[in-house]
Amino acid sequence: MARCELCRLRYDPESSASRSLHRRVHDASLNGLRYPHARSDRVIAERDGSRVAVVPREAPLAQRRRAVAAFRAASREMRYSGSGYTEREPKELDSHAFLLYRGPRLIGLFILARRTRWAEGVWNDEEPNGVADVSGWAVRKREQEDGTLWSVDFMWIARNHRRQGFGRVLLQCAAGFLATAPEEFAWLPPFTRFGKAFIRHVRPTSFRAAK
Ligand SMILES: CC(C)(COP(=O)(O)OP(=O)(O)OC[C@H]1O[C@@H](n2cnc3c(N)ncnc32)[C@H](O)[C@@H]1OP(=O)(O)O)[C@@H](O)C(=O)NCCC(=O)NCCS
Ligand SMILES: [Zn+2]
Repeated sequence: MARCELCRLRYDPESSASRSLHRRVHDASLNGLRYPHARSDRVIAERDGSRVAVVPREAPLAQRRRAVAAFRAASREMRYSGSGYTEREPKELDSHAFLLYRGPRLIGLFILARRTRWAEGVWNDEEPNGVADVSGWAVRKREQEDGTLWSVDFMWIARNHRRQGFGRVLLQCAAGFLATAPEEFAWLPPFTRFGKAFIRHVRPTSFRAAK
């Protein structure tokens, strides 16, 4: 067995079926998952060849399956082991997946949910011994648990589309749809280095870390 360093799939290089599965999975991970337009797509924005669709927890099953498929592909690539996302999300989270399409490809996924606990986090470059690479932030202050706020629980843009502003597009669409400024969102750890760079672009000094 082998494991691809990019898409992280384990496959058997000796087997042609396994190799061809890897080719498909690898392509989806780098360039996006292939999905035809569907009548059930709930498109909330369309510009410059991109479409953003929202998938709330009560969306048609086919839509929730797309979001879950993207979540799984992204989680494998990122080795993400944080909070799960399923076709049946708990009611209280009120999860909303935002899917970004370009042509026949689903190239981005942001998942937002309602969370009730958070702390104020600050960026921390100066931790000794490279600890900053692992965490890179610290809790400054615990906030009151006084109600709910929208939390960015998960974000992923297909590798070959990164650093072209698509993350920003999804964040703005989510903010518009949920009537909340991006600066007001909380963010659910753990964060990758890409995640931290992105959040820091939105909140340069401090941010809300959801729990
Ligand atoms: C995090 C992620 C979703 C960001 O999406 P993106 O489309 O690449 O982000 P954008 O192009 O909209 O970036 C917006 C700003 O964020 C910052 N930023 C984003 N990625 C960065 C990086 N790799 N290095 C430094 N800054 C970065 C920059 O300030 C950027 O603005 P600029 O390009 O004008 O300088 C994407 O990198 C990704 O999917 N990474 C892999 C999955 C992952 O790690 N998810 C986060 C889990 S916590
Ligand atoms: Zn691969």
